[in-house]
Amino acid sequence: MPAKLNIAVFASGKGSNFQAIIDALQHGFIRNTTIVLAITNNSNAGALAIARTHHIPALHLTNGQYASDDAFNKALLQALDNHHVNFIVLAGYMKKIDPVIIRKYKNRVINIHPALLPAFGGKGMYGMRVHEAVIASKDAVSGATVHLVDEEYDRGRILLQQSVPVDPTDTPETLAAKVLEIEHRIYPEVIRRIAEGQIVLDEEQPAGAN
Ligand code: GRF
Repeated sequence: MPAKLNIAVFASGKGSNFQAIIDALQHGFIRNTTIVLAITNNSNAGALAIARTHHIPALHLTNGQYASDDAFNKALLQALDNHHVNFIVLAGYMKKIDPVIIRKYKNRVINIHPALLPAFGGKGMYGMRVHEAVIASKDAVSGATVHLVDEEYDRGRILLQQSVPVDPTDTPETLAAKVLEIEHRIYPEVIRRIAEGQIVLDEEQPAGAN
């Protein structure tokens, strides 16, 4: 069994993935894991209310609160340290994670993207824009991807993907709802596999391997 995961969830929005992970923990689906901290850059994030309900320490941290990006990153790293975080789960965090953080938590940061990467990923591809692009492409399938985060947008090793058909009648909104349902299944599943050692993040992967 790998070392226990002490997770910080980073979320800027509604927090439905955060909630799905909490549910999976409460049902015993994910073991060997605690969410020790929630971080948001949005004081209105649903994630803050979710954290409060579940007595998870939460912090609202923005660059604007600090004199420099450096000071912000230091404060963030300090908070992660204070809470003994050893794993970061990005769940709709609308801000690029600084390389300083990625380096410190190398192979210990995961993200979920609402499409089948490498398609429909990269800078500017977030939220409804992703689903609009999928519909415009006339692709017959979309889906969700959980991946490791490295210093480039949406480019880290893919850990799990699941697809969903795109129906001719789908709008970006209906597609988003279908994809979100999949996200709520595969994100807890990936964390479960990591916590149980079924996915090993530290080993070198041969090119093209999942
Ligand atoms: C999800 O669609 C996720 O793929 C993307 O941001 C959205 C977050 O939704 N990265 P929620 O805040 O978890 O409801």
